[in-house]
Amino acid sequence: SRSIKIAPSILAADFANFGAECRAIEAQGADWVHVDVMDGHFVPNLTFGPAMCAALRPHIKGVMDVHLMISPVDAYLEAYAKAGADVITAHVEAGPHIHRTLQAIRGLGKKAGVALNPGTPVEVVAELLDMVDMVCVMTVNPGFGGQSFIESQVAKITRLRQMIGDREVHIEIDGGITVATAPLVSKVGADVLVAGSAVFKGGSVDNPAPYGANIRAI
Ligand code: DX5
Ligand code: ZN
Repeated sequence: SRSIKIAPSILAADFANFGAECRAIEAQGADWVHVDVMDGHFVPNLTFGPAMCAALRPHIKGVMDVHLMISPVDAYLEAYAKAGADVITAHVEAGPHIHRTLQAIRGLGKKAGVALNPGTPVEVVAELLDMVDMVCVMTVNPGFGGQSFIESQVAKITRLRQMIGDREVHIEIDGGITVATAPLVSKVGADVLVAGSAVFKGGSVDNPAPYGANIRAI
């Protein structure tokens, strides 16, 4: 059976303590660290840019998973690669040239991910599956943490699993993952689960044990 990776989203961390938060979630069993980049244009919220990713890099031993919710995206790829991202994910809705964007990410020597908003049919990735390392299915509309899981996406994940076949492509699920919703997506083939509020709730850098309990519960 496939092993499930948990990727806590630092969108739910203490913004004044990001370095310590990254160390704490890894010490508590996080597999990847998920970094949500928002531009106030592709999504209605703003977070952080490549300088923040570079500053976080020394505090993350494992995989830094950078989710770009920005448009346009191509001009910024090199900056996120230089900042030390391991996986760079761009949205298929962010422009007309997702194929070029994915070529560029791989050309920078990084793992390439393609993300889909809830309203986008999964069939749009059919021509991209041989050039990605991951497909990210958004199970909330991107922009904010703490939203409710959109159940209609489970059928989409099932179809994606079939489309991928025996390719080595991760299926990442992002948004509304909790103890209750994680089994719905792992059952149909998801193997990387992003979780923000469900991981960070009840804990802090001074009291990180709840992070570990939350990760194990998912
Ligand atoms: C939403 C982000 C998610 C978000 C997940 O735009 O891409 O990564 O932080 O947060 P939760 O787990 O709270 O839904
Ligand atoms: Zn995300």
